[in-house]
Amino acid sequence: MRIILLGSPGAGKGTQAVNLSKYFNIPLISTGDMLRAAVSDGSTLGAKVKTIMERGVLVPDDIIVDLVKQRIGKADCQTGYLLDGFPRTIAQADILNKSGVSMDYVIEIHVADEDVIARLSGRLTHPGSGRIYHLIHNPPRLPLVDDITGEALVQRDDDREETIKNRLRVYHEKTEPLVTYYREMAKKNGGLRYLRISGIGAIEEISRRIIEAMNLKK
Ligand code: AP5
Repeated sequence: MRIILLGSPGAGKGTQAVNLSKYFNIPLISTGDMLRAAVSDGSTLGAKVKTIMERGVLVPDDIIVDLVKQRIGKADCQTGYLLDGFPRTIAQADILNKSGVSMDYVIEIHVADEDVIARLSGRLTHPGSGRIYHLIHNPPRLPLVDDITGEALVQRDDDREETIKNRLRVYHEKTEPLVTYYREMAKKNGGLRYLRISGIGAIEEISRRIIEAMNLKK
C-alpha cells in the first residue's frame, strides 16, 4: 500500500501518519522529520536547509527528491509506505509520477487556516522520535516530557506565529495545486483514490474516518 498525506501545516498529517503507519504496518516517511534530523545532526544537508525551514519556505525540489528516492529505495519500502510532506510542489509530484511509482491513495486532511494557527502554537515535539503532542488537545502524561523516553519536549523553530502564517501562504501557493493535480489523476487512473477528510474532531475519530473512507479490510 502506498499512501500520500496532503494538507496544510498543522492539519494533523504527522499525527495521523503515525496511526496509519501502525495500522497498515508500512514505514512512515516524513520529509519534515528527515530534514529536522539532518539539522540536529549538524550534517551538510542540515546546514543547507536550517535557515530555509526557519523561514517557513520550501527546501529546493532537487534536495527533497534525492532524499525521498534514497529512502523509498530501501528494503523496508518494497511493500509500501506512507509519505507525509512529500510531494509538496507540482514539480515533485511530476518526478514521483515519472519515476513509475504508482500510489494507491492520496488522503487530504482539511483544516481551516484559523484552526491551524491555534494548533501549531500549542504543538510540542519529541525531537528523537518525531512524536507529536499538543498542550491542550493531546498533552503528554507529564508536563513537557515525552511519554515513552521521559526526554524533554520542544517547540519547533518554525512554530512561531509569523512563520506559521508564512508556511500557510506557501502551502496555498505551492502545495494546494496538488489537490486538483491528484483529483484529476484519480479520475483517469482507476488504481488511485483521492479522499478528502475533515481534520476537525478528536484524533482517534479522524483516524477512524480515514480508515472507513479507505473502505479496506486490514
Ligand atoms: P513538515 O514537517 O512537513 O511540516 P508541515 O507540512 O508544515 O506540517 P506540520 O508538521 O507543521 O503539521 P502536521 O500536518 O504534520 O500536523 P501535526 O500532526 O504535527 O515540514 C516542515 C518544513 O520542512 C517545511 O516548511 C519545509 O521547509 C520543509 N519541507 C518538508 N517537506 C518538504 C518538501 N517535500 N519540499 C520542500 N520542503 C519541504 O499536528 C499539529 C498540532 O495539532 C500538534 O500539536 C497535534 O498534537 C495537534 N493536533 C493534531 N490533530 C489534532 C486534532 N484532530 N485536534 C486538535 N489538535 C490536533
